[in-house]
Amino acid sequence: MAAEAAMILRTILLVLALNVVSSSYAAMDSNTYVVHMDESKMKAFDVSVGTSRRWYEAMIQSINVDSDGGEEAELLYVYENVISGFSARLSKQHLESLAKEDGFVSATMDELYNLHTTHSPHFLGLEEGVGLWDAENLASDVIIGVVDTGIWPEHPSFRSKGLPPVPSRWRGKCKAGPKFTTSNCNRKLVGAKAFFKGYEAIAGRVNETSDYRSPRDSQGHGTHTSSTAGGNLVKGASFLGLAKGTASGMRYTARIAAYKACYQLGCATSDIVAAMEQAVSDGVDVLSLSLGGVSKPYYADSMAIAAFGAVKKGVFVSASAGNSGPSGSSVSNTAPWMATVAASYMDRVFPARVELGDGQILLGTTLYSGKAPTTPSHLAYGDTAGGRGARFCVANSLSPRLVKGRIVICDRGINNRVEKGEQVRMAGGAGMILANGENQGEELLADAHVLPAASLGAAASKAVKMYSNSTTNATAVLTFEGAVYNSPAPVMAAFSSRGPSLFGPDIIKPDITAPGVNILAAWPPNISPTELTSDRRRVRFNIVSGTSMSCPHISGLAALLKSRHRKWSPAAIKSAMMTTTYILDSQGSPIADVASAGSSSATPFAFGSGHVSPQMAADPGLIYDVFTKDYLTYFCSLSYNSTQIGLFFGGNFTCPDASDVQTGDLNYPSFAVQFSRSAKNTTSTYTRRVTNVGIAVSSYAVKVSEPQGISIIVRPRVLNFRKIGQKLSYKVTIIAKGIVSTNFSFGSLVWISDNHSVRSPIGVTWL
Ligand SMILES: *[C@@H]1O[C@H](CO)[C@@H](O)[C@H](O)[C@H]1NC(C)=O
Ligand SMILES: *[C@@H]1O[C@H](CO)[C@@H](O)[C@H](O)[C@H]1NC(C)=O
Ligand SMILES: *[C@@H]1O[C@H](CO)[C@@H](O)[C@H](O)[C@H]1NC(C)=O
Ligand SMILES: *[C@@H]1O[C@H](CO)[C@@H](O)[C@H](O)[C@H]1NC(C)=O
Ligand SMILES: *[C@@H]1O[C@H](CO)[C@@H](O)[C@H](O)[C@H]1NC(C)=O
Ligand SMILES: *[C@@H]1O[C@H](CO)[C@@H](O)[C@H](O)[C@H]1NC(C)=O
Ligand SMILES: *[C@@H]1O[C@H](CO)[C@@H](O)[C@H](O)[C@H]1NC(C)=O
Ligand SMILES: *[C@@H]1O[C@H](CO)[C@@H](O)[C@H](O)[C@H]1NC(C)=O
Repeated sequence: MAAEAAMILRTILLVLALNVVSSSYAAMDSNTYVVHMDESKMKAFDVSVGTSRRWYEAMIQSINVDSDGGEEAELLYVYENVISGFSARLSKQHLESLAKEDGFVSATMDELYNLHTTHSPHFLGLEEGVGLWDAENLASDVIIGVVDTGIWPEHPSFRSKGLPPVPSRWRGKCKAGPKFTTSNCNRKLVGAKAFFKGYEAIAGRVNETSDYRSPRDSQGHGTHTSSTAGGNLVKGASFLGLAKGTASGMRYTARIAAYKACYQLGCATSDIVAAMEQAVSDGVDVLSLSLGGVSKPYYADSMAIAAFGAVKKGVFVSASAGNSGPSGSSVSNTAPWMATVAASYMDRVFPARVELGDGQILLGTTLYSGKAPTTPSHLAYGDTAGGRGARFCVANSLSPRLVKGRIVICDRGINNRVEKGEQVRMAGGAGMILANGENQGEELLADAHVLPAASLGAAASKAVKMYSNSTTNATAVLTFEGAVYNSPAPVMAAFSSRGPSLFGPDIIKPDITAPGVNILAAWPPNISPTELTSDRRRVRFNIVSGTSMSCPHISGLAALLKSRHRKWSPAAIKSAMMTTTYILDSQGSPIADVASAGSSSATPFAFGSGHVSPQMAADPGLIYDVFTKDYLTYFCSLSYNSTQIGLFFGGNFTCPDASDVQTGDLNYPSFAVQFSRSAKNTTSTYTRRVTNVGIAVSSYAVKVSEPQGISIIVRPRVLNFRKIGQKLSYKVTIIAKGIVSTNFSFGSLVWISDNHSVRSPIGVTWL
């Protein structure tokens, strides 16, 4: 699937849908809201009944009685595990009455989030029988909850072969629905449930011709992400013969629970929160969220609040960073209690060669798996290919008379990448060159085109167009080389969303990068790999790109670490992954960034702490742990008032004196600081606390690499541990010397012992 194009398409649909919806509902004056409530205000009577449902029902009833006619308020979901509150269809008037009720905290209007659309275990150093993939480590039970488009349960990746019975602590159910029965669950897929009340309130009834009001996946996205996180071993997997090998999830003995909250136009917040609520109450260990919305302050982000509730209960939450790169501050899902995952290329590429009639040879990529024409074909582009829109190969723009037997150059943009190929084929073209513009730069995403086609980067695309324009007789030959391994990797994908984070500038986001380009994983048998209905091909595995694909790698790896270290908190697991990453590629050079086209290497605002290294993460030496109280103090430092803090923590939390708290003090495994460009000798001092999980008697010395324009003092410079579990603190003073020419500068702080190296990146933003 063309993840990025599909996402853009979805975004467009989404914007259209929202416009239509808001205007049609404006007339009805009714919307869906996630309503946050203060449970401590529950009436004594309801407390005795033991649930908050009754309280909310009574409240909805009373506002219906008060309102004079019109649409009735309707309760959709009750939330008790990850947030306190409910979601409901409410008119403006209902909302006003509700806001007067004792216990009302806030209400946020429901919105639709987007999906952020096998070789990878090997690339990550995971081998059968060794280290994290040894029998002992895989024996214990870990359950990964995936909130997504559902699952295709019959897929071989979800066979339960070799798995012991479902752990008794598991409380989840397999919820039947259209084309989904309780027998679709097994020892691998241990639970499945669909949530669509919020979606249907926004977008109308789920279209049952093309989707299912059940956990069955109609898009492929959820099947793909679930199998990446925890799919079983499937030998002989490939995509149309390409990328042959064993497909497997990051923790192939993990159990999977599928919570479907995403449909054709996206995922409604109220459904996402309901899915997370169910997952936590069912007993998942890890939650995987390959979706996101517009970045907002944490107190206004119901998914972030729900994630906080999950983390409080010990559930590790990983989320995709988004596909809105390379523009700055595009990262989403930035709450510090989530792991925010960026996407990078692996060492596997699918090269395509374009040989021009004048002898130039250009390199690109393709997933086209059939034969390419070996004789030169004439080129057609824009005016020489058709009418209005022919440059982009949009529907009905290409003229069969002009295009027949030719290789058509199509610019990216407007329509989906694979759809352009479909248009060329329908017009009788022999092949396609998919041309990047300045916006796409040198990013090369391999697509399963329906005809011989190659994607070219911006520079090569310019060369082809110049040549094509220089003669009426321009020709080209396309050749495809299949999968080729061992190219320099990792490389940051240009589409991967970037920091700095808008609402938590004292934390580097994203946190980490993992494989997210050209990922082979399970695919439903009734959906074509391009998702085009005219495409008759069917595959068991599909190759897809996006931070949606990198996120489940981290979810699965978190499950692996959790089975090795049962007692580690979500923050400890995240710290272990972040401080043991690598930042050099396979050739020993700093990890490159496709977006900067070789001119400079990638920065922590692209890859966070670096690329995940599973075996190293299993033995990090020291961890930066974070407790609920630390987060609450962090909220104080962000100047959240008591109502806003109450959203995360039901009780009364008293903030320390303002002078005692600063945002940078959250015990995070990375540092982000902001200084004014004109500042001279401005200093910030932060405290960190590390816990020894390595060798009882060990000594760590600090090694600092100072960012440009900064000097750093660490006290003490040596940490001497005497036992496991011991915590020691240190202080870092960051001094801005001023006079810098860059907007950002980067460095690092590393604690080094004989056996471990614990690295934290330092990112400085010059304002
Ligand atoms: C439902 O999906 C089918 C198949 O994609 C489509 O033909 C039909 O128009 C859709 N119906 C609605 C109401 O959108
Ligand atoms: C093609 O060449 C003509 C003149 O030779 C020029 O005016 C035009 O801008 C060129 N088009 C492109 C796309 O390079
Ligand atoms: C056009 O290209 C064909 C094939 O490459 C070649 O045989 C022919 O001589 C060329 N004609 C012109 C006018 O360049
Ligand atoms: C906290 O701030 C919100 C938003 O400005 C406001 O609605 C609320 O009343 C405030 N709460 C307190 C206790 O000040
Ligand atoms: C929270 O504080 C308020 C006012 O200080 C008090 O009325 C209330 O009982 C407290 N609630 C809890 C759960 O401590
Ligand atoms: C900054 O501090 C250093 C050492 O304290 C001092 O030598 C220097 O003059 C100061 N610079 C400015 C511009 O204040
Ligand atoms: C710094 O940011 C400004 C404003 O965003 C931009 O115009 C400028 O090009 C940036 N400078 C560098 C060196 O990137
Ligand atoms: C730690 O490193 C030292 C020196 O490299 C080595 O001798 C020792 O065996 C290591 N200990 C452990 C537990 O790995």
